[in-house]
Amino acid sequence: MTFKTVIEPFRIHSVEPIRLTTEDERRAALAKAGYNVFNLPAKEVLIDLLTDSGTGAMSRDQWAAIQHGDESYAGSPSWEIFHAAVTNLFDFAHVIPTHQGRAAEKILFSVIGGPGRSVPSNTHFDTTRANVEFTGATAVDLVIAEGHDPKALHPFKGNMDIAALETFIAETGAENVPVVMLTITNNSGGGQPVSMANIREVSAVAHAHGIPFFLDACRFAENAWFIKLREEGYANADVADIVREMASYADGMTMSAKKDPLGNIGGWLAMNDPELATQCRNMLILTEGFPTYGGLAGRDLEAVAQGLSEAVSHDYLQYRIASTSYLGEGLTKAGIPVVMPYGGHAIYIDAREMLPHIDPLQYPGQSLAVALYEVGGVRGCEIGTLMFGMQPDGTEKPAAMELVRLAIPRRTYTQSHIDYVIEVCTEVKSRARSLPGYRITQGPKVLRHFTARLEPVI
Ligand code: F0G
Repeated sequence: MTFKTVIEPFRIHSVEPIRLTTEDERRAALAKAGYNVFNLPAKEVLIDLLTDSGTGAMSRDQWAAIQHGDESYAGSPSWEIFHAAVTNLFDFAHVIPTHQGRAAEKILFSVIGGPGRSVPSNTHFDTTRANVEFTGATAVDLVIAEGHDPKALHPFKGNMDIAALETFIAETGAENVPVVMLTITNNSGGGQPVSMANIREVSAVAHAHGIPFFLDACRFAENAWFIKLREEGYANADVADIVREMASYADGMTMSAKKDPLGNIGGWLAMNDPELATQCRNMLILTEGFPTYGGLAGRDLEAVAQGLSEAVSHDYLQYRIASTSYLGEGLTKAGIPVVMPYGGHAIYIDAREMLPHIDPLQYPGQSLAVALYEVGGVRGCEIGTLMFGMQPDGTEKPAAMELVRLAIPRRTYTQSHIDYVIEVCTEVKSRARSLPGYRITQGPKVLRHFTARLEPVI
């Protein structure tokens, strides 16, 4: 007998209080925060779906691993445990620990980027794009057409457009393309997976031109679970083996251990090329730390190592993906437009469709994110023109999609929390016509969505 309810495969061991506030309090908090939810104090947020990055609950065994941490400067046993856990899934010759994903990106692109170079991906995450562009190189997104259509029901909407990649390499010149990347799952494109067939093909195209192929593998376990569920030939495969196969086509990877590896902090850069590894390690020593701890404490290395073994558990992944879908189904039933199919780590509300009266350059996604907080204390994140609209030449143009991401921290919220979120979204939908656009009053040129201040356009 199998039951239809997919339960949390854990029980709660330690709890954190969360605080209800009034709508008036939240309105005041928003004004103080310059209508940017990144500026809100977390203690004034009830359900925090800003990100799934570093916000998950660690397991009993991870906390125990923290106690086991060894803080030796060089050659710590915690490094050996971390290294073994990483290479058990991603068998690259060189593993370079960093404090989080963007540190790995910074090091990699400082070495291989630079003016005149171009780096294609399915969709670069914002920090990846920023780190590429910071070196003077160009970041190019080549996701399949379905990836731009919130309604298209493609099982692997994160796939790269292979023909576009071929054309891109021919036009740019292989010598100007230092790496081809794939983000798994494709975060900025809706948390959509990439198929094993596509990973294989991207690898083949890159290698045919002598270009290395790297994975941005933050959500590798969720991607592997989708391959198991949706791709022919993998239904009976073990997720760990699917991960090993994905890694086998790549020459290296960047990783934020704050996502699927279930850490609160951590990351790494890995590769097979020994010369590239030497250059990256030199940068690591300059900016992060000694090669056996990078930017991390020994205890963090151990927490991530333990997290990696839990991340590929089938019970965990079944629960993880089912609980994200539960939010998606609830919103769909309430008539709220969301990116389909439901993503792995998040549900993305289509703000362009929900708030058609707001001009893209007045940030409909931001308006929706502000309303979700105002109405119910729920914090989501705009992934639209505020995040992506600023061009390197200082002009602004509408992003491909105007989304609000409701990211689900791992193992943190229960079904009743999610039922509450669905109710809040439903109430916001009923107020949709009255929601204003926004203008920026203050903001930096790079990664402005983190710190910009805005005001409603009334
Ligand atoms: N790549 C992807 C696909 C990401 O989603 C992130 C972070 C990074 C790289 C950078 O890693 O945060 O450890 O430096 N994404 C977070 C998010 C911030 O909310 O999606 P980091």
